[in-house]
Amino acid sequence: MSTQLKILVGIIFTLLTCIPLAAVAVGDLGHDIGIVPKTQETGMDKRAADLAGRQIEVGADLFGQYCFSCHGAKGEGIPQVAPAINRKDLLDGRREKQVGWSGSVQGFLQDTISAGRPIQSRPDLYAAHMPTWSQEYGGPLRPDQIDALVAFVMNWQSTAPEVNAWPPPGTPQPTMTPGPSPTPAPQQAGVNPTCLNIPSQYAGVKSPYQFNDAAVIAAGKQTYDDKCSACHGAQGQGDGPAAAALNPKPANFTDKAFMQGLPVDCQFYRISEGVTGTGMPPWKALGADTIWKVLIYERSFSGVQ
Ligand code: HEC
Ligand code: HEC
Repeated sequence: MSTQLKILVGIIFTLLTCIPLAAVAVGDLGHDIGIVPKTQETGMDKRAADLAGRQIEVGADLFGQYCFSCHGAKGEGIPQVAPAINRKDLLDGRREKQVGWSGSVQGFLQDTISAGRPIQSRPDLYAAHMPTWSQEYGGPLRPDQIDALVAFVMNWQSTAPEVNAWPPPGTPQPTMTPGPSPTPAPQQAGVNPTCLNIPSQYAGVKSPYQFNDAAVIAAGKQTYDDKCSACHGAQGQGDGPAAAALNPKPANFTDKAFMQGLPVDCQFYRISEGVTGTGMPPWKALGADTIWKVLIYERSFSGVQ
């Protein structure tokens, strides 16, 4: 083939590849300048819509994993645990204005979900505190996961009902007399059945720390109070403020028989991976070191090593 012929063939191929790209570009441009009818979805719009849809789906999954136990499966809130967030005033900007927030609604959600509310604004109304979620502040979620949660919550904007989650100060508060105490679930003897098939990367793992190391226990307590006590209870009895809404109930770490049936490697596995289908989230993102410390603190409630 002569050099000229090769160049010609090259040019023809290049032109052929450009045609589909040009078609997409013209479609989108046409849309922007109005020569393509609005009803006809063009390539870029469709792709953007698909992407947004996928992000909302990811957000819905995360919500089902990390948020439903306090805010309810559809964000409707759980009385005395956490407010509704599927709520018109929160999503149309009135709530933001009320608290003096000057940014967007998305920004408010993003900030609240990322940083949590270490100081409860209405402990009289909601017993739980809003945990910290973004890795930036020591939580388990990446920035793209926080974005997906924001997209999922924003997705309720057009349908959110008017719910009065925060009655104005001074209104009489509901009394919070505790109900009858639940009958404790019967404990099965022997090893926890979920511990019989531990994945190989967890089977037999051993603690790098002594179980009576006071500094390790103190570090574990910090993580526990921040991330676990809302469900497992300040004293490890499985009776944290979020526990009422959960079925099955969070584990009671003071129960010696239960702890004897939960070998250390299984406990490490459960904390890392969570328990699918229950309120127990996976905590792998905390890192092995933090997990060992919180594990040792949890075992200190029963003294079972
Ligand atoms: C352990 C219980 C708990 C969990 C789990 C939880 N929250 Fe919260 N959340 C709360 C409480 C309690 C408040 C109210 C905090 C306050 O102001 O005192 C709150 C407040 C909020 C608010 C602000 C509502 C407002 O009107 O100001 C948003 C948004 C929110 N949570 C989103 C989430 C998302 C998203 C998740 C999951 C990643 C989540 N929460 C998980 C307990 C929880
Ligand atoms: C939103 C509620 C919630 C939070 C927060 C939570 N847990 Fe749990 N946890 C549960 C529930 C519910 C169960 C019971 C699961 C079951 O019955 O298998 C559980 C079970 C466990 C178990 C026993 C596992 C088993 O197989 O029975 C361990 C260990 C545990 N959690 C550790 C932790 C640690 C450590 C933290 C904090 C880093 C934590 N949990 C935070 C709800 C929670």
